Amino acid sequence: MKIAIVNGPNLNLLGTREPQIYGTETMEGVLETIKSTFPEVIFEYFQSNHEGAIIDFLQQSDFDALVINPAAYTHYSYAIADGLKNIQKKKIEVHISNIYQREPFRQKSVTAPYVDGVITGLGTKGYLLAVSAIVNEAY
Ligand code: DQA
Repeated sequence: MKIAIVNGPNLNLLGTREPQIYGTETMEGVLETIKSTFPEVIFEYFQSNHEGAIIDFLQQSDFDALVINPAAYTHYSYAIADGLKNIQKKKIEVHISNIYQREPFRQKSVTAPYVDGVITGLGTKGYLLAVSAIVNEAY
């Protein structure tokens, strides 16, 4: 099984970016934990600060399931929402922070209708929990 983990803009700065909101763990650390917890799974990680690059990745890559944090694009990218709509695989959206406790513009996800479920506010552990839900066929 191959699971793609996709991060949107500014998440390359995880660990140093607004640590009071996003914590101090880096994405490398998150991926290490995920890989060692699920050694039988192949992971492909993709991060971009560019909307079109994320859409290209979603269109071109072959994977069995997707974990995506579209970051700020969550709140306004109909293009990424359309890209997600085209993927007939298991899909989970992850947010490190609880977007419903934050500024009004963050409290709407235009991408969420096109994924199976959303994990928000559980910190970087949300990525591991999303992978776990997919691998353990929790739905
Ligand atoms: C985020 C929340 C978004 O509002 C923000 O733009 C991010 C990260 C999160 O993981 O909590 O970049 O998706």
